[in-house]
Amino acid sequence: MTLLALETSCDETSAAVVRGGRVLANVVSSQINLHAEYGGVVPELATREHLRNLLPVTRLALREANVTARELNAVAATRGPGLPSALMVGFKAAQALAFALRRAFLGVHHHEAHLYSPWVAGKPLTADFESFQPNVSLIVSGGHTMLVHVEAPLKHRLLGATVDDAAGECFDKVARLIGLPYPGGPALDRAAQQGNPDAFDFPRPMLSEPNDDFSFSGLKTSVRYFLRDHAEILGDAQRVRDLCACVQAAIVDVLVSKTVRAARRLKVSCVTASGGVTCNRALRRELAAACERNRLALRLADKSLCTDNAAMIGVLAERKILGGEAPTPFDTEIQASWDLE
Ligand code: KG4
Ligand code: ZN
Repeated sequence: MTLLALETSCDETSAAVVRGGRVLANVVSSQINLHAEYGGVVPELATREHLRNLLPVTRLALREANVTARELNAVAATRGPGLPSALMVGFKAAQALAFALRRAFLGVHHHEAHLYSPWVAGKPLTADFESFQPNVSLIVSGGHTMLVHVEAPLKHRLLGATVDDAAGECFDKVARLIGLPYPGGPALDRAAQQGNPDAFDFPRPMLSEPNDDFSFSGLKTSVRYFLRDHAEILGDAQRVRDLCACVQAAIVDVLVSKTVRAARRLKVSCVTASGGVTCNRALRRELAAACERNRLALRLADKSLCTDNAAMIGVLAERKILGGEAPTPFDTEIQASWDLE
């Protein structure tokens, strides 16, 4: 099967071609610079940019994969969750293409695609479900933070999620308070590298509560109060780096502890992680160390698949179609709010 996948749920316009689990092309056009001056994604601008970029990105993916539209057997797109008007661009284009070519169409849940992205690895990136192990999966991005029990490929159950801000949102908002450039997460990660994570003490929200939920808005607020009371810190580059390291340590501590705790409780032997925040160096390092201490295998999504991309949509869609999932009817609409079950 040769499948084209489109992803436009937020601020990345992406098209990928997948054949037999292998990613033949994965073109991602990021809008980070467009939204930088606003300090966050502006939905109307994101939508217009998707409209401008989707066809060139799709053509490029087909060219890189050396595949013509007629050779496609199926077309897939992210159905949700995401920004409504942004989702509509990729979803409607994919439906129209599948309709015109008389091919199967499949709408895919964005988080379900993140969930299975750690099982796409190697060069070229190829789905590797043969080595699948039941796992606890951490999905951690700018919009979401959740823990999922994955018992088998395509069989999963949501364990818990953030009750307020996502971890990436916390990174971004704290970075903004400190005056770091957009997007805040990577900038804070860089600054934290030369900081002392023990310099200041920040809360570890919900760490000791007996559930798999998260909360990060209180941490952001405590940084705001801390800066109100210690405004002089912002004038001292090393103290700013220390502050970044301390906030990062608090976020990472909660994410790692709750993930490993859930894995032990559910007696799985594997932990996986995906989503934009999985690029964070401290998170990758601490998760690896905690998994080693607890004799858990760890599979982190490939860095190219951590942030939003169509390859993960395509790999999941192909697996679902080959597993017998019915095509999504052509009159189906996007689902901007769509909880993972
Ligand atoms: O998955 P993603 O591309 O988009 C969605 O939110 O769906 O994730 C973007 C998020 C942003 O909040 C960004 O700041 C964060 O991931 N991020 C990071 C790092 N790289 C990206 N956060 C911390 N450290 C990083 N190195
Ligand atoms: Zn995402």
